Amino acid sequence: MEYKYLGNTKEKVPVLGVGTWKMLGNEKNDIDTIRYAIGRGMALVDTAEMYGNEIMVGQAIRGFENVFIATKVAPHNFRYNDVINACNQSLKKLGVKQIDLYQLHWPNHSVPIKETMGALEQLKKDGKIRHIGVSNFDVREFEEAQASMKNSEIVSNQVEYSILTRDVEKDMIEYSRKNNITLIAYSPLASGALFSAKYQNLAIMLSSIGKKHGKTMAQVALNWLIINEHVIAIPKASSKAHVDENMDAIGWKLTKSEISEIDHFLSNIRKRPLSSIFTPIIKRNGFWSKYVMKRNEKASQKQNK
Ligand SMILES: NC(=O)c1ccc[n+]([C@@H]2O[C@H](COP(=O)([O-])OP(=O)(O)OC[C@H]3O[C@@H](n4cnc5c(N)ncnc54)[C@H](OP(=O)(O)O)[C@@H]3O)[C@@H](O)[C@H]2O)c1
Repeated sequence: MEYKYLGNTKEKVPVLGVGTWKMLGNEKNDIDTIRYAIGRGMALVDTAEMYGNEIMVGQAIRGFENVFIATKVAPHNFRYNDVINACNQSLKKLGVKQIDLYQLHWPNHSVPIKETMGALEQLKKDGKIRHIGVSNFDVREFEEAQASMKNSEIVSNQVEYSILTRDVEKDMIEYSRKNNITLIAYSPLASGALFSAKYQNLAIMLSSIGKKHGKTMAQVALNWLIINEHVIAIPKASSKAHVDENMDAIGWKLTKSEISEIDHFLSNIRKRPLSSIFTPIIKRNGFWSKYVMKRNEKASQKQNK
């Protein structure tokens, strides 16, 4: 495994971690796969209270000593007391004494950010979380959140970033470089869209570049991300074969001319219809997250019966 510094800290995290969104399906298989991935070095596991799977993730990480556990508080819980309660719930579900990285899942413009960040600082002071992170924050939101804390630094921003979704390149990449912020690339394989018929030509191009290195297109797509100094990625994989394949995205590097070739190709294709169309609505308040969380918890309970 390769490692990168987490934000401005002296701590290193693996460049590939485990994404767990939608991992409710076959619980036994999910747990086995997560444990396998950790064993192979992907010892950073990302979950969220909204995913409804923290209990399952807690079971999966049990017994490992050095797993870095990242979870997120849902936007409808951004009031001070709600953040504290949500964190306590997550600790309990995960079965850990401390969360390594506690992230704000999405901005919620209806709650003063100072109140939310104050709660995160308190949790850090109380030893319940080790690091503070955000997710889906743009540069302005990030700066506001950072400025509203007294003694802590935000170490990371978890953002949608893949060959097909490159919004963060507008300014977040540069900002993270200047300020030593780790960007955790979520949906790094475009939630599987990379492998769909719609992007067949892209797949052919990536595969042909991969062939020169003895690599697959998934490995090229992940290598393309983590080649960025401050970027780590958290692909979700439900099989050991996919975990193994993704692991081989490290230990080699695309050349500069291959990166240019990919960039040139991408400038000529239509990217994914971005979730950013809905971003302003999502960020307005946390009503939606309450609904999503309830739905996911129900689904999780149903699976576990
Ligand atoms: N902060 C946020 O708002 C946010 C939002 C979305 C996601 N996330 C995080 O990011 C993680 C990853 O994102 P994601 O789940 O949307 O999508 P992703 O990791 O981009 O893609 C997952 C899809 O790719 C497939 N896949 C994985 N490895 C593969 C390989 N080597 N070859 C072919 N297919 C492969 C998976 O199939 P199998 O399952 O069959 O292996 C799955 O269908 C999530 O699990 C979650 O932890 C965060």
